[in-house]
Amino acid sequence: MASAEGFDSVEKLITLDRTDLQNGLKDENCQTEEEQLSMDFLSLLEIDSDNDSLNSLPQESGKWCSRNVLRKQRHWEKITAAKKCKRKQEKERRKAKNAQDLQKGATEQKHSKKFLKALTKEHLLEAKDSGPRLCIDLSMTQHMTKKEISRLAAQIRRLYGSNKKAEKPFWLYLTSFVVNGLLYDECVRMNDGFVNYLVDTTENSFLDVFPLETVVYLTPDSDNALEDVDPEKVYVIGGLVDESVQKKLTYHKAKDHELQTARLPIQEYMVKNINMKNFHSEILAINQVFDVLSTYYRTRSWVEALQAGVSPGKGYVLRNKTTLEEI
Ligand SMILES: C[S@@+](CC[C@H](N)C(=O)[O-])C[C@H]1O[C@@H](n2cnc3c(N)ncnc32)[C@H](O)[C@@H]1O
Repeated sequence: MASAEGFDSVEKLITLDRTDLQNGLKDENCQTEEEQLSMDFLSLLEIDSDNDSLNSLPQESGKWCSRNVLRKQRHWEKITAAKKCKRKQEKERRKAKNAQDLQKGATEQKHSKKFLKALTKEHLLEAKDSGPRLCIDLSMTQHMTKKEISRLAAQIRRLYGSNKKAEKPFWLYLTSFVVNGLLYDECVRMNDGFVNYLVDTTENSFLDVFPLETVVYLTPDSDNALEDVDPEKVYVIGGLVDESVQKKLTYHKAKDHELQTARLPIQEYMVKNINMKNFHSEILAINQVFDVLSTYYRTRSWVEALQAGVSPGKGYVLRNKTTLEEI
């Protein structure tokens, strides 16, 4: 049996409950301790308070409703509000986690980019120390139109891009490269970050930079097929785009200075493809020549190297396997 003091508290709580109900639920999401206590006591009271007529209260609509129904309605409203609150909190937690994950991913990516950049630089500087070395002889811009000079600038970009990605890069030299000349300006204009390229540039001729006995001038008109890439040598490519072919230009230049010359071994590993246009050319763009050299240096396979650098448009295909095995 409840004491008089106990009944006082119950009365107080019922009053509190009534006031709440009359005011309506002000804040569905938050439940004070007092309200919770009120709910608990009401639940207790329900055990012996089946007499609804004693517990009826007026609704907003003016109708009277049993306390029991109201209690259940209120209870249900609180559950719904609590669920809604939980869902909202969960959504916010997920949002915060996603933002955190995104931030983490971006930082990791930034770090890995930084790491790759450092690795590339390290590889390139190793090549500077111990080779192999490739020089682009840029002394022939007077033989080119403005359009050809722009194309040469684009080929230099591709070549540099290939070299940066290479597992075993070359160290690159740009010789007879006149600062603020037409080609220089095109390189700066067309090639992002050109001034920061990891290459050696000089206005001097390669003839004055390297001991001549270390130089191998690559020219499609040479009588010698290149057999190997030697890190002790400097391979020179003619910085030329000649849409109207200037036959034997680099060949004569090399011969004039009694330099060793070599051509890519296209004839040895490839045959002319019978194509519709009947077009065949062993003359490659400088970036294609570089792709052949770079792939060869990595794989030591001319088959792979020529496949990487000689595009089908040149009208050549690899010899069949049996002929190749004889080489
Ligand atoms: C477009 S070619 C210029 C051809 C030009 N007629 C010449 O006299 O060299 C650009 C440069 O790539 C190199 N090159 C192109 N094809 C080659 C090949 N099959 N073998 C060796 N070097 C080649 C040469 O160094 C050449 O100077």
